[in-house]
Amino acid sequence: MALFTSEPTKQMTMDSAVDSLLANTKSKLVGSDVSRVEGALKVSGQARYSAEVQLDNQAYGVLVGATIAKGTVTEIDSSALDDMDGIIKVVTDGERFLRNSQQGTKEVAPTQGAKEVFYHGQPIAVVIAESFEAARAGAHALVVEYKDDSDNAVLDFNNALNDAHDVNEKEGSDKNNEQGDPDKALENAAITIDHIYQTPSQNAAAMEPHATVAVWEGEHLTLYTANQMIASCKKQVADALGMDTKNVQLIARYVGGGFGSKLGIAPELVAAAIAAKEIERPVSIVMTRPQVMSATVRRSNTRQRVAIGANQAGIIDSIIHESTSSNLPDEAFFEPSALSTHYLYRGDNRRVKYQMVDTNQTLSGSMRAPGEAVGQIALECALDELAEKVGIDPIELRRQNEPDEDPSQQVPFSTRKLVECMDTAAKQFGWSERPKKPASRLEGDWWIGMGMAAASRGNSLQPSEARVTLKKDADAKYGVKAVVETDMTDIGTGSYTVFSQVTADMLGLPLEDVEMVLGDSDLPPASGSGGSFGAASAGSSICLACEKLREQLASTVGLYSDTMQLHEGRVQEAGVHAPSVSDALKEAGSKAAAHIKARINEKTGKAAEATQAQYDFDNDNSYTLADILSHYEEQKLVAKGKIKPGKNGDNYRQASFGANFAEVAVHRVTGEVRVRRMTGAFAAGRILNQKTATSQCYGGMVFGIGSALMEKLIFDKRDGRLCNRDLAEYHVPVNADVPQLEVILVEEDDSYTNPMHIKGIGETAISGAAAAIANAVYNAVGIRVYDFPITLDKLL
Ligand code: MOS
Repeated sequence: MALFTSEPTKQMTMDSAVDSLLANTKSKLVGSDVSRVEGALKVSGQARYSAEVQLDNQAYGVLVGATIAKGTVTEIDSSALDDMDGIIKVVTDGERFLRNSQQGTKEVAPTQGAKEVFYHGQPIAVVIAESFEAARAGAHALVVEYKDDSDNAVLDFNNALNDAHDVNEKEGSDKNNEQGDPDKALENAAITIDHIYQTPSQNAAAMEPHATVAVWEGEHLTLYTANQMIASCKKQVADALGMDTKNVQLIARYVGGGFGSKLGIAPELVAAAIAAKEIERPVSIVMTRPQVMSATVRRSNTRQRVAIGANQAGIIDSIIHESTSSNLPDEAFFEPSALSTHYLYRGDNRRVKYQMVDTNQTLSGSMRAPGEAVGQIALECALDELAEKVGIDPIELRRQNEPDEDPSQQVPFSTRKLVECMDTAAKQFGWSERPKKPASRLEGDWWIGMGMAAASRGNSLQPSEARVTLKKDADAKYGVKAVVETDMTDIGTGSYTVFSQVTADMLGLPLEDVEMVLGDSDLPPASGSGGSFGAASAGSSICLACEKLREQLASTVGLYSDTMQLHEGRVQEAGVHAPSVSDALKEAGSKAAAHIKARINEKTGKAAEATQAQYDFDNDNSYTLADILSHYEEQKLVAKGKIKPGKNGDNYRQASFGANFAEVAVHRVTGEVRVRRMTGAFAAGRILNQKTATSQCYGGMVFGIGSALMEKLIFDKRDGRLCNRDLAEYHVPVNADVPQLEVILVEEDDSYTNPMHIKGIGETAISGAAAAIANAVYNAVGIRVYDFPITLDKLL
């Protein structure tokens, strides 16, 4: 089989060359279901997470949180700690309270110059001791006095709606938009839906708590920390501590989930850095679960108005999506609930409008599919209601409202496979069995219902760099090993694995001879893991570095890089079968070499002369990578890859699409909801790894179950204390709540996204997943719940 198809692609850009290379490798690792390359390290406890870092002479810190919702710290009395064993120091740092920064979108100092308290649980001090236990005892014994201004705290979002203010569009992650006259179009519409949907605050509840070990060597600060985006966080650290970024190093080799909560730095990092400096020892601070929940970041609650006006046939003419979310005062982040409302359905009249309420509750920020995850609850439930009013199938309604182009921006979609995803999933799920009327199927004591929702998550590319070194290694199968270095993280998503696949395919090496060095901010800066852009961004930079290596190799042996195939540690010409090339060379000897020489003379001219001078093509063994590398002085080749978001993307609306289907059973007497099964179909460009991509989708669907039925942070309206701040009280789906999940990855090629033609998949499946369940609940019992989660009391 030839490496390349002979017909030229549209434009022979570097991009299309990379895509073509990946599509035509002989090893075909990309796209297969390779298991996690670091899996064994993780299950055997050898993968070291930040909390497990042990340094010589390390001390331990425990954060102390404020116990008022608003006010000022007037005194921190540590006299009770004087006689306690093991206490080293209480760092109160009166000048800087330990508030974390707005997550991810900008570089803001996470410490501000005051002792002001903005929310209950806000870290105000840290007790450092010889052991965690001693530090914890000290933290409990600390007496803090306040000037309590909690009477003026805003603790009831709904009561404060009158004080809602406009958002900062410049720093937020979405913009207001108004086209046509949506109010008038709504008024004139034959059929209208107009509801307020409320979604609660949530916590990412990643398995690994936030943790940092800080150590200073002179002016240099090293932080072993649980973090998703270490390149941008390096700047946050420098900003927070008034340092130069060159003295800051973040290391996050393994991260146990983030879901947005580790996009920015959290208070324990700043506290550890300050404390380590003061006591001149390494300091480890691991947050407790309640601290993670009350003092890192929450997904904001939202109050969303979705109004849709359509004609008798269900063709949408007007969409209004107004979303109000909450955050601490002066924070720029708002929940971008209407991100996909801009383009998901047709309609000439459209308004997206955001407002915010300042509350004295935990900082809010990005959590898994910020925007779409909750926005599509409102939009997709509204669509379901519209379908019912029009009297057509929900899939049909969506099909009829497919826009020809992005109706807000008037730009084409790069690709859009919503209809295919809906149809594929519907067939697999057995949508035709759906009860035609709500509350019409009773099995024993359980009402049965089916529901569906569209999924969509915007796709983006972030600047990313990587360095790939190809070097001789006697232990490697073919005597050559590739080392990939980038500060990209693997937060459990599979970065180590998918990038190994890409590198192995591009360089023709076995997976085990690709060494992936990630999670160190001294390495080339990558996108980090967030916004579902990690695989595309960091992956592209690695791919481009590999392509440069290929070019260097090709020029060495006098081939064109795009007709050169690397396979099993050998360099071959495209069109020559891999297993036979060396045999052929052995058999035919100088005949094959002559063929290559002829090509060189014919095509590469000058370069070939130079190459020939360096390299002996008549040697039968000369076609191995190892021999080519031997030829270089340092026995290795190094290349850097760099990807930047191009202008190309601006001319297209890029998004991953999908559809979630759910079957639920609702108990006739108790109102208990059980999700019986879910099927989802998702299209996200090239799939790098069937297994890890499918796992991401499972995760999204499980999040959907939590969002629809369980998850809700409850803040005490008297003092702002987070009431349910552990996993016993904050309910996330456990195994018994998660039924059979089925994921279908729909094939898609999107050449506008990035050199590898891949799109984000991580946050696609969560989008709309909760709406599919809510719509199934309606189908089961005929009750629409607009206030999430759908707890049983709302169905009685
Ligand atoms: Mo994701 S919420 O961008 O980690």
